[in-house]
Amino acid sequence: MLPPDRPALLLAPMQDVTDLPFLRSIAAFGGADLYITEYFRVHIHSRPDPYILRSITENPTQRPIIAQMIGQDPDELVRTALELKKYPIAGIDLNLGCPAPVVYRKNAGGGLLRKPAQISTLLARLREACGELPLTVKTRIGFETEDEFHTLLPLFKKHPIDLLTIHARTVKERYQTPVHTHWVRQAVTEMPCPVIANGNIVNCQTGLNYLHSTRAAGLMIGRGAIRNPWIFDQLRASLTHSTPPPVTQRMILSYIHLLFEETARIVSDFVEQKHVQKMKKYLNYITQGQPPSFEHHIRRVKTKEEFFTVCQDHLGSDELAPDLPSENSKLFCGFSQFL
Ligand SMILES: Cc1cc2nc3c(=O)[nH]c(=O)nc-3n(C[C@H](O)[C@H](O)[C@H](O)COP(=O)(O)O)c2cc1C
Repeated sequence: MLPPDRPALLLAPMQDVTDLPFLRSIAAFGGADLYITEYFRVHIHSRPDPYILRSITENPTQRPIIAQMIGQDPDELVRTALELKKYPIAGIDLNLGCPAPVVYRKNAGGGLLRKPAQISTLLARLREACGELPLTVKTRIGFETEDEFHTLLPLFKKHPIDLLTIHARTVKERYQTPVHTHWVRQAVTEMPCPVIANGNIVNCQTGLNYLHSTRAAGLMIGRGAIRNPWIFDQLRASLTHSTPPPVTQRMILSYIHLLFEETARIVSDFVEQKHVQKMKKYLNYITQGQPPSFEHHIRRVKTKEEFFTVCQDHLGSDELAPDLPSENSKLFCGFSQFL
């Protein structure tokens, strides 16, 4: 599942982002070594969401994809894992990190971190259900405080999971703080399976420094990959001592064009203005680090023509794209720990 000769590069699962059109776009620009679906919600009435299933059945990446589940009921999670096993997946992942109150209040996602005994039951049941199929976990380091990782790590050690990804923040820290790398380092030292480091990787340097400080088996990248899909190619080159490919403004423009086409292609009821609004969600990330006028103008566009005129005005050149997002933006902050 992981490259044998260098650290692995994973695309982070992101709800409403890492769907089939996004995977098609990111794979066109090199892509990751391993993918995880956005989460399948699991409850008593749930069936695997057909839209998310398409990223498995039509996986365009030529790389393995793991199916992620979020829920708290052992019977329902086992039932869903058995259903998902019928599809071409590389593993089942359990989400132990989602910080959305609507999720954690139900003791699912990050909420489970307050229930170590429940995690233990879930991992035992899922291990049995998965059989030979890899079982992986994506976790935060605690709910309220990082000290909770003292209790969580022994649980992850006790159950024979195949991969542990750590988003090294507590649930309460959500997305904005620096990450606590020493817990990842500790997990790398103690876990019998590979450990993947996640959180705040925004360019090559931040990824390499996170790897250096933790000696993790790989990196998982989310928001930084929406902003720059070439980040995987750049890191792969750095890790194999070749020259990372430069990313120009025009390349970013071509990425936006592809995203627009792919996201439009999948909807049966294409409505131009609605689609432009949808594109703004990606542009929120892509504009970070660009001159502020780009974000300002993109917020105001309504039609496809206006949208691409603004993109062309700001990105229609062969200049290098900014390597870093701005440090004080809401979507990217705290990463200076790796600079
Ligand atoms: C829009 C968005 C949606 C997310 N959805 C999921 C999800 O479905 N499952 C999950 O495990 N994490 C989810 N995450 C968390 C990311 O996988 C990742 O852990 C987090 O963004 C930190 O990594 P980054 O700094 O590289 O973005 C989401 C994050 C964002 C920003």
